[in-house]
Amino acid sequence: MDAFAGGGSIPFEAARYGFNVLASDLNPVAVVTMKAAMEYPLKFGPDLQQDIDKWVKWVGDEAEKRLAEFFPSLPGETVQNYLWAHTVVCPQCQSVVPLSPNWWLYKRPEKQNLHKWCAVKPIPNPENKRVDFEVVRGKKGKGIAIQTAEGEYDPETTATISRGVGKCPNCGSVIENDLIYEQGRADVMGHQLYAVAYRRGEGNLEFRLPQSIDDDGFDKAKTSFNKHLHYWSFRFCQMFQFLTDINLLKEALFCSQV
Ligand SMILES: C[S@@+](CC[C@H](N)C(=O)[O-])C[C@H]1O[C@@H](n2cnc3c(N)ncnc32)[C@H](O)[C@@H]1O
Ligand SMILES: [Zn+2]
Repeated sequence: MDAFAGGGSIPFEAARYGFNVLASDLNPVAVVTMKAAMEYPLKFGPDLQQDIDKWVKWVGDEAEKRLAEFFPSLPGETVQNYLWAHTVVCPQCQSVVPLSPNWWLYKRPEKQNLHKWCAVKPIPNPENKRVDFEVVRGKKGKGIAIQTAEGEYDPETTATISRGVGKCPNCGSVIENDLIYEQGRADVMGHQLYAVAYRRGEGNLEFRLPQSIDDDGFDKAKTSFNKHLHYWSFRFCQMFQFLTDINLLKEALFCSQV
């Protein structure tokens, strides 16, 4: 018996050994996952695979269609990830400082990937009280640096935070840990998009600096999120009420028996 079974990996293995298994969990999502992995294949047989393939594809296609406007891509590319840094305001020069302990984007150790190393480099911009970035691409250099035609770059040397203490690239001031915590607690920390990861077709992951199209996507997502938040909160409460119906709760909590 596993009373905290999560997705059900332990009961799954126990059932494979032929034991009689009882499993439960507090989280109904975990329980549904567990049921899908353990009960349904036995109950519905191999035909279930076809249904799973069909509906997984449907959910994927539908999500892609509905979310496309929030993840815009430049021609020929498919955006994969957005890389954001938290920001604080430097107490000395009032610049907005993005915080990261290093600026690596890609540092795979395999031989076939050693020429694809990539990072961003912070570029001070004190006039506009912000920090900009450039992308540095090259091959593995000495230690953990990137070798480029212009020389070596180690993205850890331009860290803007280390052991909780920040450093402003515009004026060189130390940004004390207390101040960073204070801005975090007061919920006045900002965020800055500093790189975008994308693919061309089935190609490898590539990186570029953000462009206005990325900001537009984010703005649209923010607007849509705020517009729907009230409705989602309402639906969440409804769902919760639904689950607190005692019979359903029983089903959700004490359900997987193989
Ligand atoms: C670390 S996960 C279990 C992972 C699982 N053993 C596996 O290998 O996949 C811990 C689980 O305990 C569940 N849990 C936490 N408190 C619980 C409680 N009071 N009653 C039942 N389940 C609980 C959580 O919902 C979570 O799914
Ligand atoms: Zn500063």
